[in-house]
Amino acid sequence: METITNVKEYEVIAKEKLPKMVYDYYASGAEDQWTLKENRDAFSRILFRPRILIDVSKIDTSTTVLGFKISMPIMVAPTAMLKMAHPQGEFATARASSAAGTIMTLSSWATSSVEEVASTGPGIRFFQLYVYKDRNIVVQLLKRAERAGFKAVVLTVDTPILGRREADIKNRFILPPHLTLKNFEDLDLGKIDRTDESGLASYVAGQVDRSLSWKDVKWLQTVTSLPIIVKGVLTAEDARIAVQNGVAGIIVSNHGARQLDYSPATIMALEEVIKAVQGRVPVFLDGGVRRGTDVFKALALGASGIFIGRPVVFSLAVDGEDGVRKVLQMLHDEFELTMALSGCRSIQEITRNHIVAPWDAPRVVPRL
Ligand code: FNR
Ligand code: LAC
Repeated sequence: METITNVKEYEVIAKEKLPKMVYDYYASGAEDQWTLKENRDAFSRILFRPRILIDVSKIDTSTTVLGFKISMPIMVAPTAMLKMAHPQGEFATARASSAAGTIMTLSSWATSSVEEVASTGPGIRFFQLYVYKDRNIVVQLLKRAERAGFKAVVLTVDTPILGRREADIKNRFILPPHLTLKNFEDLDLGKIDRTDESGLASYVAGQVDRSLSWKDVKWLQTVTSLPIIVKGVLTAEDARIAVQNGVAGIIVSNHGARQLDYSPATIMALEEVIKAVQGRVPVFLDGGVRRGTDVFKALALGASGIFIGRPVVFSLAVDGEDGVRKVLQMLHDEFELTMALSGCRSIQEITRNHIVAPWDAPRVVPRL
């Protein structure tokens, strides 16, 4: 096999390797997939203002998230059903994330349980929550995640109903019968059965509570001692309300363009959220991050870190744990290189002046 030199190459190989139903589920965005393309394109419109002749013989990519020291501001987003990609699924992802010294977020709809993932060894892990209509399920699941040593709850707030992914409808997507949504197996809610649409869309319609609102965020704070990060904020208005409701962090996300098509690229929405939050809680971003330069751009706009979804899924499909390790390493190395070539030796040195965005007013050059 030819040497893989960047993250995007994994998707091409994964497409050849995976069954069509599985690849389509992982790759798809909603409807016209405009946002899917825009998540990438928007990064390409942001350019650098690199600084020169700064001693970059030592670069430190490490940072702190919710008090946890990690090797780089690049973390693993929750993605469902990873055993469709590789038999080691969430185990391989957990091991690769710990080996890279970064955080993995486990999906509610993982094909491995919170206990199983915890048993892979030490590592800082977050648990992504979908809120079921039956709140006893939620309370029990949060207790299990806490007991298994997960450090935060990532509450997904952009999915009261599943977005319309047309390939999944055509394919009549199901979870292959040898797999289950392991966290829900004992409740008899572990299967995604065939319906005349996307099986996942039917499952979501049956189980997920579409009445979820801010009062439930308050309620969640009473049933778990873990910090709650809301995932799926795209506006200043919601960012302000999130802070008022005592969240520990915000993820600017459009769910990898899988929910509301024609939502803006996350990198376009990031700065309004940053301005609204005014440093009161950390703000993260996911969506379309495929290069170290993308990571740098998000940080320059004020993000405390980013998460990657599909790069993990596709590298897992191609090469299991080694693939995920390689993706995290490549992104780390590209990010470190971007820091060096921009004249930044630490995360703190990355500023808004290191980039120029299309919405910037003509620049008043800062005086030294
Ligand atoms: C997701 N995402 C997601 N989000 C979530 O909160 N819970 C989940 O179970 C899943 N599952 C899932 C499956 C797959 C196949 C994808 C591609 C995405 C969304 C995910 O956490 C993240 O927001 C995006 O994947 C980020 O965009 P990129 O990096 O995939 O472009
Ligand atoms: C998805 C759900 C599981 O995007 O979050 O497929």
